[in-house]
Amino acid sequence: MERKFSSKKIVALTAYDYSFARLLDTSDLDIILVGDSLAMVSLGLETTLPVTMEEMIIHTRAVNRGCHNALLVADMPFMSYQVSDEQAITNAGRFIQEAGAQAVKLEGGARMAGRIQALTNAEIPVMGHIGLTPQSVNKLGGYRVQGKNYKDARKIKQDARKIQEAGVFAIVLEGIPDDLAGEITQDIKVPTIGIGAGVQCDGQILVLHDLLGLGMDSSPKFVKQYACLGDKVKKAVSSYIQEVRDETFPDEEHSYKSKTHNLKSVSDAPQQ
Ligand code: KIV
Repeated sequence: MERKFSSKKIVALTAYDYSFARLLDTSDLDIILVGDSLAMVSLGLETTLPVTMEEMIIHTRAVNRGCHNALLVADMPFMSYQVSDEQAITNAGRFIQEAGAQAVKLEGGARMAGRIQALTNAEIPVMGHIGLTPQSVNKLGGYRVQGKNYKDARKIKQDARKIQEAGVFAIVLEGIPDDLAGEITQDIKVPTIGIGAGVQCDGQILVLHDLLGLGMDSSPKFVKQYACLGDKVKKAVSSYIQEVRDETFPDEEHSYKSKTHNLKSVSDAPQQ
C-alpha cells in the first residue's frame, strides 16, 4: 500500500518450483506469484482452466521452500472460489495453512466483490485481477485486450473500485489499454500491477518463462524477453549428447578413482 505513494515500482514475477523460487528470492523482487499460468507453462495444458487445487498446492509449497523475502501469493484456480464464500475461504485457507502462501489472488471484478469481502473478513489477504481474466476465456471468446471502448472501460474502472471497497490489497490489471490503466491507477488507493497494461501502473508482473525465453514459440505483444534460455538449454543438451556418444564425457576430471588401481587383484585376493 505504501509503495503506491513511493516512486519505486512494485516488481513481481511468477514461479512454479523451488529452484526458480530460490533464484528469484535472492533478487530484489517484491512479489512471487504461483500463477495458475502453471497449467500452461509447466503442465502443458491449453488453458488455465483445468489446473486443480491439489496441483496448485504442491507447486505453492515448493515455491514457499525457496521464498524467504518476497511476498508469496497463490493464484486461486478456476472453480476453487466461484461456487460459494465457504468454498473460497476453505480453499484460500489451504493455500495459507498447507502451502505457506501469504495471500491469494483471484480473478473478477464487481461480481466477485462479495467473495473478496468474505475472504478478507476471514483474515486472508486478497490480490484482485481484472481486465483480461484468462479464467473467463470462454466467456470473453479468446484472449483479447479488454476495455477498448468507452462502455467496457467504464465497467473495468467500476470493477477496480468495487474490489477495492471489498478489501483487495493490490489489483492486477491485465490486457487493457495503457491510458485506462493509468486512469484506474490514479483513481484507486491500492497499487495496480500491470501485465499488458502499459507503464502507468504502480507495478509490473510477467510470467517468468516468457521473460527468460523459456516460453511458447510466440509470445504476446506485451512480453519482453530478457534472455534466450530456451536456446541455451537446447545447446547444452546437444553438447551433452554429443560428448556422451563420442566418449569425451565422463572424462578424468568427472570420474572417481579407487585407492587401489588394480581392482582385479583386490577381488582375486584370497578371503581371510
Ligand atoms: O497466472 C498468472 O501467471 C497470472 C499473472 C500473469 C498475472 O495470473
